[in-house]
Parts: sequence; structure tokens; C-alpha cells
Amino acid sequence: SPPFDGDNDGDVVADGFAFAFDIDGVLVRGGRAIPEALEAMKVLNGENKYGIKIPYIFLTNGGGKTEAERCNDLSRQLQTGISPSQFICGHTPMSEMADKYNTVLVVGGEGEKCRQVAEGYGFKDVVTPGDIIKANSATTPFRKLTEEEYINSKERDFSNVTIEAIFVFADSRDWAGDLQIIIDLAMSKGGRIGTLSETFDEGPPIYFSHNDVVWSAAHDNVRLGMGALRGIVEYTFKEVTKGKTLQTHAFGKPQLGTFEFATRLLKRWRKNEHRLNAPPETVYFVGDTPESDIRGTNQYNEKAENDWYSILVKTGVYQDGTEPAYKPRVTVDNVLDAVNHGIEREM
Ligand code: G3P
Ligand code: MG
Repeated sequence: SPPFDGDNDGDVVADGFAFAFDIDGVLVRGGRAIPEALEAMKVLNGENKYGIKIPYIFLTNGGGKTEAERCNDLSRQLQTGISPSQFICGHTPMSEMADKYNTVLVVGGEGEKCRQVAEGYGFKDVVTPGDIIKANSATTPFRKLTEEEYINSKERDFSNVTIEAIFVFADSRDWAGDLQIIIDLAMSKGGRIGTLSETFDEGPPIYFSHNDVVWSAAHDNVRLGMGALRGIVEYTFKEVTKGKTLQTHAFGKPQLGTFEFATRLLKRWRKNEHRLNAPPETVYFVGDTPESDIRGTNQYNEKAENDWYSILVKTGVYQDGTEPAYKPRVTVDNVLDAVNHGIEREM
């Protein structure tokens, strides 16, 4: 497409294409920018031979803090301003379920952060595992609340409380304790704490913010992620109920709903930030995990109104020389090569 300056501010913006980025294993590892990511951001922001700015958004399965806080971290790591209006994390689409339930259990993350995220989404009554342990310390024989956790956890009589749904917002910091509490509720009479169902089919629905069994952090080898906990929950339920199946749900990539959410976000971002009204012809999605990034992009491409073009990088979960379970349109070394590949294909 010819260069476009919709708001006549001197910025020439690419209107025919955009980028969407996975974060862990593509831009960041263990809280630090992957070196090529800094250069990739500069190229997107206009430091390229065509002098064009290229619209982009972020789509991570990670989470555990508010979108605003995470964007502050990311702006520091990537040395460029990143707005929550161009960012989706694993739990962002869960905000659309805030009206559906009254009392919910929110699991995962540091301290009280996920309770605050859920309340910010409009969830009316948020219980944490800490609240349940505070009310009855026998719940988790090997997990004692720290003094700080005890103070922050809410004092509450659970005898008349019904947990209507469980949301795992971020990675558990105590797998054993959280597993116990999730299983207790899955086996309860309709989500009432301390009860035991006779049929084991009346527990609250359980939602995980994503299903990544592994992810790419600071260690050389991949680390266990929320998908592993999900598998353990389902396995354990079957064991303790002598064969009943527990059906849990996952948000995040590769779910279609997450990519639909991303399309709406990209549309708003391009309109408000770049004065672009028509959808881009191509969205380049750059990811490191075949099972979530590439699978989701390819699957969404089947039904999207534009071309979602999957690019796999070698800086994260995917290991060079292995056969990816889901095939990308192209594989490149790193995110800078991914950005340059997209630009050269377009210009
Ligand atoms: O916990 C985060 C991880 O599973 C994936 O993050 O950015 O690679 O989607 P990301
Ligand atoms: Mg990743």
C-alpha cells in the first residue's frame, strides 16, 4: 500500500499490514528483553528504510498483574512506550465474565495482585486461596500463610458462601495448596466450601487463563506453566473420584475467542492511534510456541477476514532442528528477522 498519513501529523503509517507479538520467548525472557527485540521496536516505530510506522499489538498468555502495570514493565524492558490499549494478556478476556458470577475464587500470582485485577474487571466478590486457608488452616496441611498473607487475606465465614466459578488468572505460587483447594471445590456440593458431593458433578466451572504446559523464561530449558497445573487438576480429580471426568476450560492462545478479542483491540488501536479505519490486509503474528501461537494464528486465519500470517522464532519454546507440531508460514531466527520479513514481503 502507498504510505498513509491519516491525521497529517507527518507520521507515515503502513495501512495494509500490522504486527501482533507474543511476549515470552519472543521479546522477553525472564524479565529481560531479548537483544533483537529492542531493534525490532525501533524498526516498527519508523526507523526503517521506508520511514514508515507499523501498527502493532501484544498478545501474551502471561498475566498476574493489571494490564497497566504490565505495560509499564514492558515499556521499560523494550525501551518504548506501550499502552494497555495495545495489549492483551491471558486473563484480559476473562473481564467479559465479571457479570456472570457473584462469588468467584481467583487463583495464582503474587500476593493480592490477582484479586485486584479481578476486582478491576468488575468481579463483585473475589475469594482467594488465602481467605480459605485463613478461615481453616487445616485446609492445606503443608501450607502456612506468611504473616503478610495472613494480614492481607480476608476474614470470612464461609458457611453460607457459594463459589460460583474458579478462575486461575496466573501461575500458582503454591501448586500443592492451590490444587487442594481447587479439587475441594470441584468435589463440593455446588461450590460450598467444606462440603462433599455424593455425585461429584456439581462443582463450579473452572477457567484457566491459558493452557501452556511449558513456557520460555530465564532458564535454558523451558519451564512448567499453567497448562501443567490444569493437567494435574484433571488427573487428580479422576483419581480421587474413582474415575469421574472433570471438564475445565482455557482462555488465551490458541483459543479463537482470544484472537477475535485481539482483532477488536487491533481495530480500535489502529483507529485511535493511527487514524486507520479499514482493517489491514495482513496481520503478522510472531510467536515461539507452536501449540499456542502458531496453532492459534493458523486456525484463526481460516475464518478471519484478513490474512493472519504465522511466524515462528527460535528464541523461546521452539527448538531449532525439531519439527514444530503446528507449521508456521515461515520460521526465522528472532523477532527482528520476523519484523524485517513482514516488511520486505509488503514493500
Ligand atoms: O506464563 C506465560 C507463558 O505461558 C506464555 O507467555 O507471552 O509466551 O504467551 P507468552
Ligand atoms: Mg511465548
